[in-house]
Amino acid sequence: MESTHHKSILITGGAGFIGSHLTRLFVIKYPDTRIVNLDKLTYAGNLENLKDIEKKDNYTFIKGDICDGDLLNKLFEQYAFDGVLHCAAESHVDRSITDPLAFVKTNVLGTATLLNVAKEYWKGHFEGKLFYHISTDEVYGTLGETGFFTEETPYDPRSPYSASKASSDHFVRAYYHTYGLPVIVSNCSNNYGPYHFPEKLIPLCINNIIHNKPLPIYGKGENVRDWLFVEDHVRAIDLIFHKGKAGETYNIGGHNEWKNIDIIRELCRQMDNKLGRAAGTSEKLITFVKDRAGHDLRYAIDPTKLSEELGWKPALQFEEGLARTIDWYLENGEWLNHVTSGNYQKYYEGMYGS
Ligand code: NAD
Ligand code: TYD
Repeated sequence: MESTHHKSILITGGAGFIGSHLTRLFVIKYPDTRIVNLDKLTYAGNLENLKDIEKKDNYTFIKGDICDGDLLNKLFEQYAFDGVLHCAAESHVDRSITDPLAFVKTNVLGTATLLNVAKEYWKGHFEGKLFYHISTDEVYGTLGETGFFTEETPYDPRSPYSASKASSDHFVRAYYHTYGLPVIVSNCSNNYGPYHFPEKLIPLCINNIIHNKPLPIYGKGENVRDWLFVEDHVRAIDLIFHKGKAGETYNIGGHNEWKNIDIIRELCRQMDNKLGRAAGTSEKLITFVKDRAGHDLRYAIDPTKLSEELGWKPALQFEEGLARTIDWYLENGEWLNHVTSGNYQKYYEGMYGS
């Protein structure tokens, strides 16, 4: 059955937030390519994210761990992958503060295991192959009030999450320099959009506004993040995967910086509108709570290389992206109820007290 497809791509972590958008894009846009989604289905992985494409001919789901070298070897043998889009990771900074070793295991050891299997399988015929590593701008550390992260900014990770991602980026580049494995790394700013797990700021606050619960803002809400709609991110990955140069790094971001307090006020304003609540109702839920340990002040991406070399720019204005995101959560109450039942309650109580 595999032989009817011209190409074969492994996506790891395809049941997560960004991975599911990436998988959907590739499965629909490239019907002649077999897309194999390998995901461990941790708390963050959810096959409901892929319901609309799960029956497509060119799509295969495999439940498994990127740390399992034997499984990876079997999958490379079975599907003869031409490319890897590596999304699987532990991705939440707060969880990395509570359980750093889980991040070392998946993000560092898992990535190194995957690299090693790809290198061995592709040995002697690297031509036309690509190992694409999806990474974050958080590896660059924190900015002050001014300046931007470029591809030349020295790494300076400060949380166990960003340290584990930085380490995995270094391993990916080491495999390029040492073994000649064709690799690309992209470092993207904060994403938002449908299927975002409600442990992260925007979906957590959307869920809490729906349920009239406090909106926990760390510190004074002065920290700045550079927000990109997830579909713009996966369009950039598609472009870089097909047109980017092996050995290169690309920063992805859309010049859309917001202080946390301002973005949550804007979210409250739009949600009051959509829920037919009086203006100012949701803002009253804002509650300042204890700051995150080692909380990076500001992230901001300079995407000049990507826009000048490959012609990428974001398709969506922020106000429209946020409106689409809110509408999606309001229309997908069942998805939200599923992901916030069970273990989520325990996590939430541990983090926020109630
Ligand atoms: P996510 O937490 O929503 O999804 C991660 C996925 O990986 C889940 O489906 C999970 O089940 C799977 N996974 C975890 N450990 C695994 C393992 N050992 N083996 C196989 N699968 C495993 O994460 P996300 O927000 O979609 O992020 C995806 C990637 O993009 C990550 O590498 C992250 O560092 C990077 N990134 C995220 C953002 C963002 O704003 N969310 C921004 C830039 C880069
Ligand atoms: P988050 O969505 O966790 O992404 P990251 O830490 O990777 O940037 O957090 C975005 C910002 O929002 C960050 O500055 C921390 C802050 N934040 C809160 O103020 N309250 C919250 O409950 C959460 C989860 C985050």
